[in-house]
Amino acid sequence: MAYVTIGSMTDKNIVLTGFMGSGKTAVSRNLAGRTGLKRVSTDDLIVEAEGRSIVAIFRDSGEGYFRKIEKQVVAEVCCLAGVIVDCGGGVILDEDNRRALKSSGTVFFLDASEQEIYQRIKAQTHRPLLNTPDPLAGIHDLLKQRRPLYACADITLLTDGKSVAAVTEEILKVVHMN
Ligand code: S3P
Repeated sequence: MAYVTIGSMTDKNIVLTGFMGSGKTAVSRNLAGRTGLKRVSTDDLIVEAEGRSIVAIFRDSGEGYFRKIEKQVVAEVCCLAGVIVDCGGGVILDEDNRRALKSSGTVFFLDASEQEIYQRIKAQTHRPLLNTPDPLAGIHDLLKQRRPLYACADITLLTDGKSVAAVTEEILKVVHMN
């Protein structure tokens, strides 16, 4: 699959992965504004399909159920072309998800340090996996487990200390849309 360089159109998806708080949502929104490409969010699609929040899904049906719906959503999103995909932080846990996302486009891993992630998420309550007495330890443990999986991305971008606009620019350069 190749980028089609007609105007700003591309048939490859721009896929953003990374840990919770790595800036995927803000960057994907900015990217959509800059490129005119449609943005889809796996979390938003899950919430829409289920008619309840992610916190409620985890609380009432468990993480396994959430991952099952997430996998269906990823499969559907990977049938789209030329869109920006904002992936939930755990999407890469599933091997089929990783493979499907990679074949649908360019996969970016927005990396961030544990401290930076903690600073970004500490005041938020919508992420069930980090609603724990010691979120910093939770970030440490989950990142240790997930780093090798995030590393399967095509491109890794360190986001520490960078603005949303700066990260967006880096992505646009990679996909030749700057
Ligand atoms: C999760 C990340 C969340 C959301 C859910 C689980 C994870 O998405 O999918 O709370 O396992 O890392 P964000 O990365 O957009 O916060």
